[in-house]
Amino acid sequence: MHTKITDSIYSVGILNPNLRIFDIVMKTDYGTSYNSYIVKGSEKTALIDCNHKTYFKQYIENIKEICPLEEIDYIVLNHNEPDHSGTLGELLALMPQVQVVASKVGALYIKNIANRDDIQFIIAKDNDEISLGDKMLKFINAPFLHWPDSMFTWVPEEKTLFTCDFFGCHFCEPSAFDYNIVYGSYYEKALKAYYDAIFGPFGSHVKKGLEKIKELDMEFICTSHGPVLTKRGRWQEVLAKYEEWSAPIKNDKPLIPIFYCTAYGNTGLLAESIRDGILETIDADCEIYDLVDYDMEAMQWKLNTCDAFVIGSPTINKNAVPPIWNLLAGIDMINSMKKSCAVFGSYGWSGEAVPNLCQFLTTLKLNVFEESLKVTFVPSDQDLEKAKELGRAFAQSL
Ligand code: FEO
Repeated sequence: MHTKITDSIYSVGILNPNLRIFDIVMKTDYGTSYNSYIVKGSEKTALIDCNHKTYFKQYIENIKEICPLEEIDYIVLNHNEPDHSGTLGELLALMPQVQVVASKVGALYIKNIANRDDIQFIIAKDNDEISLGDKMLKFINAPFLHWPDSMFTWVPEEKTLFTCDFFGCHFCEPSAFDYNIVYGSYYEKALKAYYDAIFGPFGSHVKKGLEKIKELDMEFICTSHGPVLTKRGRWQEVLAKYEEWSAPIKNDKPLIPIFYCTAYGNTGLLAESIRDGILETIDADCEIYDLVDYDMEAMQWKLNTCDAFVIGSPTINKNAVPPIWNLLAGIDMINSMKKSCAVFGSYGWSGEAVPNLCQFLTTLKLNVFEESLKVTFVPSDQDLEKAKELGRAFAQSL
């Protein structure tokens, strides 16, 4: 099923309200959509961003509601991950006449997604244009929003900007437009979660992207996930949010969270003593977090916005425990390199959690404090003093 956006722009993507996990790691409590658009000019027609190959059959039917496949002249791919470019191979088999428009980096990705060497590319550089007759496609390079290949496509005659993932979110309601959103608070939650996961590491690039589009007289922003943003709806509000979220984060005092898990309370006792040692030494915001009791996304946000952190795990099955690894799976590797951290843990038999964590964090190029603390079973008074000393020494090193 398609939706008309303007007299010459149609949404032909797929709604997936039931999706609950995207790309293995992102929770999608409100489903998602894989948006794709057709722009019809007086002479030429373009398909902008494609789709996930799982939904190819329905996607083709949606396109055919607007025009026969042989009438499509260009496929513009603003960004290339398989949720957008995954259908390209199948589309090209049905539309051999099509020229594919992408950034230079995008063309490289596409060759490896479609596994074809015979694609006719038009490489779009910043400010390049393609005429559709009475309408123009104008390309705006937007690297790292959120991959190196990303670009936007601007259709001035329709005051419509196509941004792919930028301004998008995993949210799905039957209407394509933001002014029809029924569950507004859920949309806002989905928008923030998407920003944090996808654009959080790229704040400076977000700023540059916003700067590039600020003079455009936009009526519609057509993203690749979630509702179309409109001037009468939410686009000013979403732009303002992006301005706010991309501002550099400055903590009033050093933020040094202590993350841990504890099987019998022993690693937890060490966490408390390390915190006491830190707070004896410097004025810091130093809270302890048993990961079992907190929302993982909130913890990952803290991990990525802190100045330094301490992490502790008991040893189970010769390793740190899963919540600790889950936390570290969300680390922002663009901005976390050289961040200081220290490691500790209580154990019963062999205590591999501490060395495993130290090794992993060193591999990620974090600045792992040279001293770590391993304690067998229940920490003695001496062990707790050692933990406090670790806190003092770590704080002094910052
Ligand atoms: Fe929606 Fe970066 O793919």
